[in-house]
Amino acid sequence: MGFGLENKVYIITGSGRGIGLEIARTFAKNKAIVVLSDYNEESLTQAKEEFDTNNYPYTAIPCNITDENEVLNLISTTHKKYGKIDGLINNAGITRDTLLMRMKNEQWDAVIETNLKGVFLATRAAVKYLISQKFGKIINIASVVGVTGNAGQTNYSASKAGVIGFTKSIAQELGSRNITANAIAPGFIDTDMTNKLSDKVKEEFLKNVPLKRAGSPVDVANAALFLASPFADYITGQVLLVDGGMVM
Ligand SMILES: NC(=O)c1ccc[n+]([C@@H]2O[C@H](COP(=O)([O-])OP(=O)(O)OC[C@H]3O[C@@H](n4cnc5c(N)ncnc54)[C@H](O)[C@@H]3O)[C@@H](O)[C@H]2O)c1
Repeated sequence: MGFGLENKVYIITGSGRGIGLEIARTFAKNKAIVVLSDYNEESLTQAKEEFDTNNYPYTAIPCNITDENEVLNLISTTHKKYGKIDGLINNAGITRDTLLMRMKNEQWDAVIETNLKGVFLATRAAVKYLISQKFGKIINIASVVGVTGNAGQTNYSASKAGVIGFTKSIAQELGSRNITANAIAPGFIDTDMTNKLSDKVKEEFLKNVPLKRAGSPVDVANAALFLASPFADYITGQVLLVDGGMVM
C-alpha cells in the first residue's frame, strides 16, 4: 500500500540539497508532484538533473525565502500550473552560530529572517489557496534546539522555537478549514549544515542520542511523508521529534 501522495502537489523550500532534497526525492518516489525551490541556483540545477534522470514529475522555481515577491511568485506559479497546492514544506534554513556575547546584529537578523520570517511569508502566501480549496498540509522543519535551547545558537534556537509557536497558532487558526500544520524537530542529522561542526562537537551530540548514530536526511523525509499522507489527517499542531531519542 502506498502513502496516498499520487498527483499531490507539494512545495518544498530549500530543496536544492540536504533534508529538503531528500524530502523531495521521497515524495517523488511516492508519485507526488514536487515543486523544487532554492535560492542556490547551482544546487537547484543539480536537483533538476537528478529529477530529470529519474523521470519524476516536478517543477523547479528559484526562490529566496526572505524575498516576499519571490515567495509570492513561487506560490502563485505553482497554483497557476497545477490548479491546486496540496501542501507546503517550509524547510529552508540557515545557521550563524556563535556565543551571545559575540553575536553580531547581522547574524541574528539573517537567521530570524530566513528561518522564521521565511516560514511566515511562504505560509501566508500559500494559505490563501489552501483555504479556498478547503484542504492543505503545512509541515515546518524546526529543530530539537527550538525545544531545548543550545549554547552558541541563541539566534537559531529562537527562530526554531518561533517556528513551533507559529505552527501551533496556524493549526488553531486553520483547523476549521481542514488544514493541518505540524512541525518536525530533527536532532543531529548528517548534512552539509552539520558537516561544518568539529568531530568533538559531533561526539558530544552523539553521547546524548540513545540510538547512537546521527540521523540521515531519509529519517526526516520519512516523517514528512507520514505527516503529508492521509494517515496523518487527524494530527495537527504537533511537534514530531526525529532525533534518535535525544530529547524525551
Ligand atoms: N542538519 C541538521 O542536523 C538539522 C537539525 C535540525 C533542523 N535542521 C533544519 O532542517 C532544514 C534543512 O537543513 P539541512 O541540514 O538540509 O541544511 P542545508 O544547509 O544542507 O540545506 C538548506 C537548504 O536551504 C537553502 N536555503 C538557505 N537559505 C535560503 C533562502 N533564504 N531561500 C531559499 N533557500 C534557502 C540552502 O540553499 C540549502 O539548499 C533547515 O531548516 C535546518 O534548520 C537541520
